[in-house]
Amino acid sequence: MSAMIPWEAILEARATLAGVIHQTPVLQSRGLNALAGADLWFKAENFQVTGSFKVRGAFNHISRLHSRPEIHTVVTASSGNHGQAVAFSAQRFGLRAHIVVPEGASPAKVQAAAAYGAQVEYYGTTSRERLARARALAETPGFAYVPPYDDDLVMAGQGTLGAEILEAVPDVDTVVVPIGGGGLIAGIASAVKARRPTVEVVGVEPAGAAGAYMSRQAGRRVELPVGVSIADGLTTVVPGERTFPIIQEAVDRLLTVTDAAIRDTMWLLITRLKILVEPSGAAAAAAVLTPDQPFRGRRVAVVISGGNVDPERLAELAVARHA
Ligand SMILES: Cc1ncc(COP(=O)(O)O)c(C=O)c1O
Repeated sequence: MSAMIPWEAILEARATLAGVIHQTPVLQSRGLNALAGADLWFKAENFQVTGSFKVRGAFNHISRLHSRPEIHTVVTASSGNHGQAVAFSAQRFGLRAHIVVPEGASPAKVQAAAAYGAQVEYYGTTSRERLARARALAETPGFAYVPPYDDDLVMAGQGTLGAEILEAVPDVDTVVVPIGGGGLIAGIASAVKARRPTVEVVGVEPAGAAGAYMSRQAGRRVELPVGVSIADGLTTVVPGERTFPIIQEAVDRLLTVTDAAIRDTMWLLITRLKILVEPSGAAAAAAVLTPDQPFRGRRVAVVISGGNVDPERLAELAVARHA
């Protein structure tokens, strides 16, 4: 039996999200096409409500909590973007939000979650630590846990992005997607393979946090000791229990990119597309714009997954680039 998220669940999520999220633009640049030797379409989720695609899954999950009227607070663990998305969605449904973030989380992301009225708690440094903390808190009566990726409603929400890509670029032959815990790619791959099975789905991880790549090599979920990358949304140390079988079934190829390539790509996206993208959001583009990439001659949709970058971090990146 297929592990994929059913197309009907993705359609239901689309209906739930209608009027709440933006239909984000798909951007093109002749210069970048020439650089890649391919036709590229950049799906710009940096322009999404809350600054990343995460609102799709979080809102879809939280929308179903009305069936549990005892719930008054949602809790989650997040490096930032999912936290922001949960905080936004909770506010829309009149619920409180408690967000567990890693020590050293991006101040821009933390401030944004707090601005939506969430309580933010710093805890540990690895995804495993903060997930355990959030799950423990969720045992409190009246609390409900909103998983960042390993959940069918979250994946169905992220899958709506795949449906939008197929509509915006009907003759696409490849879709390139960043991977953290794997919820985004699991949702997108489910949508794409349901409607257009011949379209290739490619996942991209930072070289310092390639949990899905290592797991595929091993044929089972492998947990890395640490995940190290400037792409803070992609440093998850192990793919999800639910997301990994979908990745195995529906993702055709897994690639890794270096932090240097991500940094260079952020500047290319600023100068060529005039868009501000966070490191995690630039990883898929880095895989396509790097020398020796396998996409020449193809028609490629590239997911730009988020744009929440700290101004100070941006200045550091500029300095590092010229060092
Ligand atoms: C900007 C951005 N892109 C991609 C991802 C990866 O998403 P997933 O964990 O669903 O693979 C994240 C996760 O936080 C993110 O913040």
